[in-house]
Amino acid sequence: MAYRPTVTDVPLIIIDRLVPARAMCLADELLVDLPQRWSHTAGVAGRAADLAAAVDPADRDLLLCAAWLHDIGYAATARDTGFHPLDGARLLRRRGWPVRLCALVAHHSGASFLAAAQGVAGMAEFGDERSAVTDALACADQTTGVRGEPVFLEDRLAEVLRRHGAFSPHGAAHVGRAPYLRAAASRVQARLLTAAEA
Ligand SMILES: [Fe+2]
Repeated sequence: MAYRPTVTDVPLIIIDRLVPARAMCLADELLVDLPQRWSHTAGVAGRAADLAAAVDPADRDLLLCAAWLHDIGYAATARDTGFHPLDGARLLRRRGWPVRLCALVAHHSGASFLAAAQGVAGMAEFGDERSAVTDALACADQTTGVRGEPVFLEDRLAEVLRRHGAFSPHGAAHVGRAPYLRAAASRVQARLLTAAEA
């Protein structure tokens, strides 16, 4: 059968800005066999929209695109190293998505802490901008449960630790990652307050 390009095959270079609907379509396509991951992703995107006032207006579409695409590294077609933040970022890079978006996906929710604990190589391919967008993405992800339901950050951190164990790579990463995520959530809260007062 002849190859038929889909909308997600069109390089973003012909589109002059990031389009969240296009990111949603790609996530839908890639996560079709992972319904629970899709539910989580949709929840994170909704939460990111709620937190959008915590980032510069010029970065709000970037935040929404990153929220839709942050977990596509779990898709079978993305599988490379087995470390989903890096696999997702590499897939996006291959498909021509902007470098900044790829980097946000690679480093989402303090992924570098877990990469170090697991001995994953390759994270340096992508810069970690540690910006208001990074914080809002982490906050959206870490306050959304596995089925897309709202959760408290502390409950989510405790659940991951319980699931993997204190002596696992996740347990080792937790020591640095948990304070990092708490600080990110605090900064998001402060930025939302500032935006509400403006
Ligand atoms: Fe996630």
